[in-house]
Amino acid sequence: MTPFQYLKKTEKKRMDELFSLLKFASVSAKAEHKKDIAACARWLKDHLKQVGFKSKVYPTKGHPLVYAEYFVDKKLPTVLYYGHYDVQPPEPLDLWKTAPFKPQIRGGCIYARGANDNKGQVFTHIKGLESVLKTSGTLPVNVKMLIEGEEEVHSANLPIFIRKNRKLLKSDIVVVSDTAQFGRNLPAVTFGLRGIASVEVYVYGPNRDVHSGSFGGAIANPVNVLCSMVGQLHDKDGHITIPGFYKDARPVGKFERAQFARLPYKAKDYMKSLGLSALHGEKGYSTFERSWARPTCDVNGITGGYQGEGAKTIIPSYASCKITMRLVPNQDPKDICNRIEKYLQKIAPKSVKVKVEKHGGAKGVVVPTEGPWLEAAARAIKTGFGVEPVFMKEGGSIPIVVDFKEILGLDTLLIGFGQNDDNIHSPNERFRVTDFERGCRTAAALPTELAGVKI
Ligand code: BES
Ligand code: MN
Repeated sequence: MTPFQYLKKTEKKRMDELFSLLKFASVSAKAEHKKDIAACARWLKDHLKQVGFKSKVYPTKGHPLVYAEYFVDKKLPTVLYYGHYDVQPPEPLDLWKTAPFKPQIRGGCIYARGANDNKGQVFTHIKGLESVLKTSGTLPVNVKMLIEGEEEVHSANLPIFIRKNRKLLKSDIVVVSDTAQFGRNLPAVTFGLRGIASVEVYVYGPNRDVHSGSFGGAIANPVNVLCSMVGQLHDKDGHITIPGFYKDARPVGKFERAQFARLPYKAKDYMKSLGLSALHGEKGYSTFERSWARPTCDVNGITGGYQGEGAKTIIPSYASCKITMRLVPNQDPKDICNRIEKYLQKIAPKSVKVKVEKHGGAKGVVVPTEGPWLEAAARAIKTGFGVEPVFMKEGGSIPIVVDFKEILGLDTLLIGFGQNDDNIHSPNERFRVTDFERGCRTAAALPTELAGVKI
């Protein structure tokens, strides 16, 4: 039997297993899900053992990580697979057609939080490797697998684990499927990701909510002030106004500009898929340049005052918002956090107190745009999907990829199987069954291709 025949034969069982994995509410951002996270890690460890790996759950200061290994021969290349089993909070729940942790197939798509980001994609590799292992009794490469539980909350504890376990993790190349295809049956190799820097901003006014009739007009309203401060983060051309923000930002390069321009793009379709009638962004850049290769500054959520039913006439005591800035290579998240803090303090009126909580972040990722590993990955994709991959970048972040390079000296192959309209981080997250199947096939073809790379 070939690996592809094995995948075909085990189609139903494979989907049942993926459903078991998707049922864990492994939301890393919320303390109430600690038990679900731990149970999910245990399930993965047991499943990997069943497939034939040596596997173990490692506790960390935060959520546990799962490590698995299949050693064949030290002369063979060693491939480190990385992914995450934690997921984003599913809220707002009322917008889900079916419950986020009760996976369901509708219209050829698997719907569940994590179906795509990242449990579904991680599972393609587990099943792809299984298909090779079960049909040939071994693997053509040594495999190490690291599946963490804190990617969606910045992977704070993983670098510590990596530093402590350099020997354990010693490999030749990293494989990550946590990005997307460019489009329908247009698989991609991604050659860069943006970094991220996060802050939370608090604006404090009167020592309690007060009557807006009695006091309104005589004191600053923290919500008004915060909105005005947020409004001062960009100029009319969409440039970010924080002093020194662009100082280290690597300009959009010739190669990437040309590469992006080759990709099929129609502004009309892009707008339509988002329900928009106009686009918005930094003057002088194309949509892909804006979303993949230029830094940003965006509010993720803003709150303050009364939001309940009916009216309440108050001047709220405080307001706050969460801001993330997507970074490009050479920008340093710590430096960027310091700069926004300084700027916000400078523009804050004396009538309020402003606190900026800095959450740090991750640097932008650059990976090779050519070489034998990349060619091997492209061949595996061709085998799995039946078409050649395109080369693109992505605007999202995978914090640990930079550490793989800086701590372990390893390059990463970013080969994603999802779609950019699969609603990751949104209600009704999904993974097309055909993408899942082609992902499994690519994952089955990949080890043999990587085995051919001279190390
Ligand atoms: N899978 C995403 C990364 C991604 C998103 C890549 C879109 C390409 C396109 C990953 O799980 C993710 O969401 N990362 C977070 C990291 C953050 C919390 C530090 C992100 O980008 O917001
Ligand atoms: Mn994500």
